Amino acid sequence: MFESLAAKPADAILKLIAEHNNDTREEKVDLGVGVYRDADGNTPILSSVKAAEHWLVDSQASKAYLGSRGDAVFCDAIERLVFGDEANSDERLATVQSPGGSGALRVAAELILRANPKARMWVSDPTWNNHVPLLGEAGVGLVAYPYYDTDSNSIRFDAMLDALSKAVPGDLLLLHGCCHNPTGMDLTREQWLAVADVVVERQLIPFIDFAYQGFAVGMDADAFGARLMYERVPEMVVTHSCSKNFGLYRDRVGALTFVAGDEDTAKRVDSQALSVVRTMYSLPPDHGAAVVSRILADDGLRAQWEAEVADMRSRLKGMRSLLVSTLAEAAPGHDFSHIGRTTGMFCYLGISPEQVARIKAERGVYMVDSGRINVCGITEGNVRYLTESIASIL
Ligand code: LMR
Repeated sequence: MFESLAAKPADAILKLIAEHNNDTREEKVDLGVGVYRDADGNTPILSSVKAAEHWLVDSQASKAYLGSRGDAVFCDAIERLVFGDEANSDERLATVQSPGGSGALRVAAELILRANPKARMWVSDPTWNNHVPLLGEAGVGLVAYPYYDTDSNSIRFDAMLDALSKAVPGDLLLLHGCCHNPTGMDLTREQWLAVADVVVERQLIPFIDFAYQGFAVGMDADAFGARLMYERVPEMVVTHSCSKNFGLYRDRVGALTFVAGDEDTAKRVDSQALSVVRTMYSLPPDHGAAVVSRILADDGLRAQWEAEVADMRSRLKGMRSLLVSTLAEAAPGHDFSHIGRTTGMFCYLGISPEQVARIKAERGVYMVDSGRINVCGITEGNVRYLTESIASIL
C-alpha cells in the first residue's frame, strides 16, 4: 500500500531549523523559523511561565481527562484577552482549547465544512506558508486577495478592496489579527475600518488568525481589528496562538472561538466543535493551557507576563531600527526603510529566492525562500556580519 506514496518536500520554514543546526560555521545567523530570541540569541522560558509551572507542580492534583474542550477557565481567559472583559457574558461565543494555533485552524476548517461543504475562504497573497496547505488540504476552497506589493514594499490596499468586492455573502475572509506573517505589514486602523465596511456590506465572515497578540503595539491595541469585527458582524471565527506571546511553542497551546448569530446557534456550533475535536484528537494537551490559565488569573503573574511581552516587543522594534541603520551604512544606495514600518517578528527583506540561496550557502545566513526574515535573529553582535552578508549578495 505505502509504495504508492510519493515523497513530500519538507516544510519550507521547519526545514530551516535542521539546516541551521547542521551548519558548523560559527558566524551563521538564523532568521528562519518564527521563535523569539533574546539579545544573546536564546529562546528562554518566560519567568511568568516558570513561576506558573512551579505553582502547577505544587498544586495540580490530577492529570485526569478534562474533556474535548480542554480547560474552560483557559477558554474564558482567552475570550477576554481577544475581545475584552465583556466577552464572557456573551452567549454568542463558543471557545475550545486547541493544540496551538494550527490545531485551531484545522478544527475551524472541519467545522466550516460541516456547516458549508462549499465554503470559500479569501486569504492574503502572501500569507503564512502553512495557511494554504493546512486549510486547503482540509478541503476549504481558497481564493487569494492581493495584499503586498514587493516593488513598493507596501500594502496593495486598493487592489485588496477591489478583489473583496467580488466576494459573495457567506465567504470567509482570513485576516491576520496583527503582525502579518510573512510581511510584517499590518492594516492601519483606517484600513481595518474600510475592510469592516466591505465585510458588512458583502456579508462576509471574518476569520481572524491571531498568533502574535502583544507583539505589535500592545495587548489591547493589537486586538483592534478582532474587536472591530466582533462589534460589527453577526458571525466570525478567531484562532488564537499562545506559542509566541507566552513562548509556549512546543507545548502547543491555542484556542478557537466562534461567534454565532445567537445563543442557540452558538450552542450548536459548540457541540459540533467538540465533536470535531473528539473525532480528530479527542482532547487537547493540558500543560501549556494550565500555565496560561494560571498567569491570566493571577494579577501578579499577569503583570509580570505583560511586562515580558512588552520587553520582547521592544527588542523587536530595536532590532528593526538597528538593521535599517546598519544596512544604510553597509549597502548605501539600497532602500530598506520599509523594514522600519513593519511589526512583529517578520518582514520581507526584499531579495530574490536566488539571493536567499546564495546568502545561505556563502554566508550561513538562514531565512525563508521568500526573503522573509525573523527579526529576533538579529543581535548587536551579529548585525554587522549580517548586513555585510546582505550587501554581498545585492
Ligand atoms: C513561522 O511562521 O515561522 C512560525 O509560525 C512557525 C511555523 O510553524 O511556521
